[in-house]
Amino acid sequence: MRILRNIRFYVVALAIVIQYVQCTAPTGCTYDSSDSVGIYTCDFTAITLPLTYSGFSPAPQRLVINKIDGSLGSGSTFSGFSSFSSASLDKNYIASLDLQCSTSATVSLTIAAGTFTDMSYVQKLTITNCRISNLPADVFLDFGQLDTLIITGGQIDAMDAGAFNNIDIGKLDLIPQAAGLLELSNLVMPSTTLTTGIFTSLVNVSHIKLDNIGLTAVVAADFSSNTGLHTLTVSNNAITTIPTGFFTGLDGIAIVDFSGTSWDCSCTNLWFLTFADTNGIEIQGGANCGSPSSHARIALGTSCMPIWDLIGYIILVIALVISCVALGLICHTRRQLLTAKNKLATKKNTSWNKVQEAMKRRGGAGQKPPAASTQPNKGKGWV
Ligand SMILES: *[C@@H]1O[C@H](CO)[C@@H](O)[C@H](O)[C@H]1NC(C)=O
Repeated sequence: MRILRNIRFYVVALAIVIQYVQCTAPTGCTYDSSDSVGIYTCDFTAITLPLTYSGFSPAPQRLVINKIDGSLGSGSTFSGFSSFSSASLDKNYIASLDLQCSTSATVSLTIAAGTFTDMSYVQKLTITNCRISNLPADVFLDFGQLDTLIITGGQIDAMDAGAFNNIDIGKLDLIPQAAGLLELSNLVMPSTTLTTGIFTSLVNVSHIKLDNIGLTAVVAADFSSNTGLHTLTVSNNAITTIPTGFFTGLDGIAIVDFSGTSWDCSCTNLWFLTFADTNGIEIQGGANCGSPSSHARIALGTSCMPIWDLIGYIILVIALVISCVALGLICHTRRQLLTAKNKLATKKNTSWNKVQEAMKRRGGAGQKPPAASTQPNKGKGWV
């Protein structure tokens, strides 16, 4: 029995050792195995490009390259990753590639069609804090299909109208928290408006998020091809209006988030509040008016009203309430006074009758009681 237990112990220990030995990573990469699908983190300054698939064991389903301060170039970054079949992915984790630039990087990141050759197993691409010199046409083509593409922090110096061509961003089946998301956030963009046609090919994208990227205007054509769009976030930008017809073609749109927008609230500019109301579109982020500053307006549900009008109405309501209360008090006091007067009169009469009775009974000294019609003199103390 004891021998059996010992053998079991050795087998388990051996299995752990084998697993440890089996885990290999290229020079400059470390493997964090705290999850069942671990994360490889490769230090750009310590690795030799290209990164070779066969150098990773287990397979790099979640891969981070950080401290990037140079170019990924084209065609010389990843090698042999075509052997990574999507079928072997652990479905509990999204297959991710994370590119993180060094905040002190002096060299712009250059990526081009070919940079991501063989990386079609990737489902989520994130590029963080990079100064990207250019997003040329078809730059993401090698991924084929992505659930999520996020470019956040940093700067994009130039962007081709076809940058998102030939990449299908949309919710992937069978992955946890499928998002179908394209996010550009906290970025310095090449322009304060979107490059014409930049999102045209993204017919399956479910959520476009443009947060804090310095946009001063959006036009209807920016999103009119995104027929699969469910959520649109245009938040913390410097837009003040959205043009009528903005939602044309967006038949599946359900949520629009304009958080952090300071609207120009001439009432006609708030057309979308009524439109959203009638079409069952949820507007998130409220509607705050930044202008016209001379008479800032505030949106109330689907109507809008100058703020001084609103204050006027509030004062009117308060005045009405006060008037009603005053009227009530007057009526009440008047009724109380009347009751008191009546009581007094009754009491006076009763006292006078008593005097008459007393004088009749005594009959004395030839005095006659005063006639019943006689009333006591006012002010003579007949109470
Ligand atoms: C959109 O999704 C459908 C269904 O998955 C697919 O057949 C089609 O190719 C996709 N379109 C684009 C432009 O990626």
